[in-house]
Amino acid sequence: MAINRPKGTEDHLPALSPKLTLDVSAQAHGWLVEKARRVLERAGAQRIDTPLFEEADLVKRGVGGSTDIVRKEMFTVYYFGDHGGYILRPEGTAAIVRAYLQNGLKQLPAPLKLWTHGPMFRAERQQRGRLRQFHQVDYEVLGSTDALVDAEAIALMVGVVRELGLTGVRVKLGSIGDPEDRERYNTYLRELFTPQLERLSDDSKDRLTRNPMRILDSKSAGDQELLAELGVRPMLDFLGEEAGAHFRAVQAYLTEWGVEYDIDPSIVRGLDYYRRTAWELHHEGVGAKSALGGGGRYDGLAQELGSKETIPGIGWAFGVERLLLALEAEGMALPEIAGPLLYVAALDEVNVPHAARTAMSARAHARAEFAYRAMKPAAAFRDAERRGAHWVALLGTDEVTQGTLSLKNIRTGEQRSLAAADLATFLQEHA
Ligand code: HAM
Repeated sequence: MAINRPKGTEDHLPALSPKLTLDVSAQAHGWLVEKARRVLERAGAQRIDTPLFEEADLVKRGVGGSTDIVRKEMFTVYYFGDHGGYILRPEGTAAIVRAYLQNGLKQLPAPLKLWTHGPMFRAERQQRGRLRQFHQVDYEVLGSTDALVDAEAIALMVGVVRELGLTGVRVKLGSIGDPEDRERYNTYLRELFTPQLERLSDDSKDRLTRNPMRILDSKSAGDQELLAELGVRPMLDFLGEEAGAHFRAVQAYLTEWGVEYDIDPSIVRGLDYYRRTAWELHHEGVGAKSALGGGGRYDGLAQELGSKETIPGIGWAFGVERLLLALEAEGMALPEIAGPLLYVAALDEVNVPHAARTAMSARAHARAEFAYRAMKPAAAFRDAERRGAHWVALLGTDEVTQGTLSLKNIRTGEQRSLAAADLATFLQEHA
């Protein structure tokens, strides 16, 4: 029996693969991350990478015991049949805060801006844009409570979207207040829902005790009906003075910079570490339930992870696959095949090693490939074309003895003869 890849994972394929679409193109993934890197590094963010697996406790304490991620979606890592107490990371933030604390990054000038990219793992039911191994571009700022940092983070997220050329993106902005505001809101929700207990889904009954706010995010149609019927007041009505002022300041900066957003009182977010500013980016092509990315402030997370000091923080993450699906929905084509600048083919078997040597030394200057067998000119041109090559050099015994190259431009048909010694200069000029 053939072995297939695990459910909910994808292969990222090379150009010209028969099953290639934007979201599974390795080249498109690389292109997207490179664009994001440029935007983030210009804003002063530095790359950080943490392990793909972490202590399970990091995620339980960081992401929160009442979340779907911790309760249903963790991949546990076993080795030699022994349980190591590790899990595959479902997100990047808790680990980045851990790394900040563990490596003394507090000594670096604050606020410290960090970014990362890599695979994340959640055992979700597979759907379009919902995978068990997916990829995030993640940005985090540590060491400031300033609303200006929140606004800059949101603006940067929009900056990445623009750099990619995506247009139909909406920023949904909310605030989930300080912990005491949330407590007041949860008390209100408990009082509201307890008399309706029988009508709540099983999951939401559970949420009512653990974290009532998560009921608002329920996927059950019955729950959503009940919510509409009860006319639940939004979290925003419960913001305390400080959280309210912070939220208004974030909005004022965004407005001043012309960053468009909609206030969305229903923003809940699926992770427990958030407080104050929280937001998501949405796109029609990916569907209302699936955000392109989301983020928020998490000033209490470092202490949750054992820090004696408060280390305020804020950040966001994009789902790379979802960004690619959105780009596809907007009609973006697959990236052009990046073919070799030079393709060298020998016309006779004896000259094949010479063709190989010519291509290999050309690699100091450009991408160069060669034919592993002698070829007739027509076959060589056909093969070079399929590989997307620009220039083809055919090597016969005449060329080899005279130290020349006969070059042909596959795209324009232009032909020229070149002294082999001038190849480096030629490639540099045409790179
Ligand atoms: P999140 O909202 O859980 O936040 O995930 C961020 C993004 O990752 C989502 O908006 C979505 O695009 C993508 N994503 C999540 N789960 C899946 C999945 N199963 N399949 C495909 N894509 C998925 C976080 O992870 C936070 N750490 C963001 C953050 C950073 N907050 C502060 N700093």
